[in-house]
Amino acid sequence: MDTISVDLPKTAARYRALVDEALTVYLRVGSGCPARLADAMRYSVLAPGKRLRPMLVLMAAEACGGVIEDAMPAACAVEMVHAYSLIHDDLPAMDDDDLRRGLPTCHRQFDEATAILAGDGLLTLAFEVLATHIQPGEIAARCCAILASAAGAVGMVGGQADDVAGGLEGDDLEGIESIHARKTGALISASLELGAVCAGANSDRIDGLRRYGRRLGLAFQITDDLLDVRGDLATVGKRVGKDSEQGKATYPALLGVEASVRRAERLVEEACSELLPLGANGAGLEAVARYVLERNR
Ligand code: IPE
Ligand code: IPE
Ligand code: MG
Ligand code: MG
Ligand code: MG
Repeated sequence: MDTISVDLPKTAARYRALVDEALTVYLRVGSGCPARLADAMRYSVLAPGKRLRPMLVLMAAEACGGVIEDAMPAACAVEMVHAYSLIHDDLPAMDDDDLRRGLPTCHRQFDEATAILAGDGLLTLAFEVLATHIQPGEIAARCCAILASAAGAVGMVGGQADDVAGGLEGDDLEGIESIHARKTGALISASLELGAVCAGANSDRIDGLRRYGRRLGLAFQITDDLLDVRGDLATVGKRVGKDSEQGKATYPALLGVEASVRRAERLVEEACSELLPLGANGAGLEAVARYVLERNR
């Protein structure tokens, strides 16, 4: 690949400002929505997360020759589904966390029923945004199908079900990879696919970006597991050290820290090799992949 240096912090800040502006508009839910529910939805989505998934949607669209405006509804829809997954992940019945994005978790700030319903509201709003704002309708329908299958029972929700069920043998690398690929990898891979589809990319390009996304998604959850072991609460913005307390199946628990870092490095190399056909247009996505290895939040 041509070496083009990308100033990722600057690029990310530019995408972030656009995404947050669009999210704010989409989150002006109608006057029929109870104020407390709308507040909880906005509280969780607009909290200072990294906006990785919407950035991937927009970068993939641009890498395929599309424009940001056409992919923005998909970028926002993915972030809404992600925010809903975090709200529910933090509930007492799941990971029972009290800190998220440096703030009290949704059920702590509001209450459990409101948190469950805010998640439901965000999941539903995501599909309303896709169906209403992606043009033409045929692309909107494709986007709905991509996001539904990534977020649903064979994707994120299924991965979360296996994560909370636990019971993996200590050496079940395939099992843990399957959980991570679904609970986290599916939405990340879908982000790339959505961006490419909104840009009208051909099937080879879409397949390549999906493969990049799968590897990046797995690497991202490995580095999330690593942050739980050696991250700093104030920087990460969520409690650390909870995975081992709760006996979660994680890469560091299974392979140790060093081997987990090497596994993430390998996945990032493999992800980047999928970008070769994009030439210089893949530089931003390559920078994101490298960032995933170095991230401290
Ligand atoms: C956290 O995702 C949950 C995982 C799937 C690992 P992020 O680390 O992207 O969370 P935010 O969006 O920045 O809060
Ligand atoms: C979360 O995995 C995956 C989803 C929310 C779908 P984790 O439980 O490890 O995420 P954090 O560490 O709470 O952000
Ligand atoms: Mg969890
Ligand atoms: Mg969790
Ligand atoms: Mg985690």
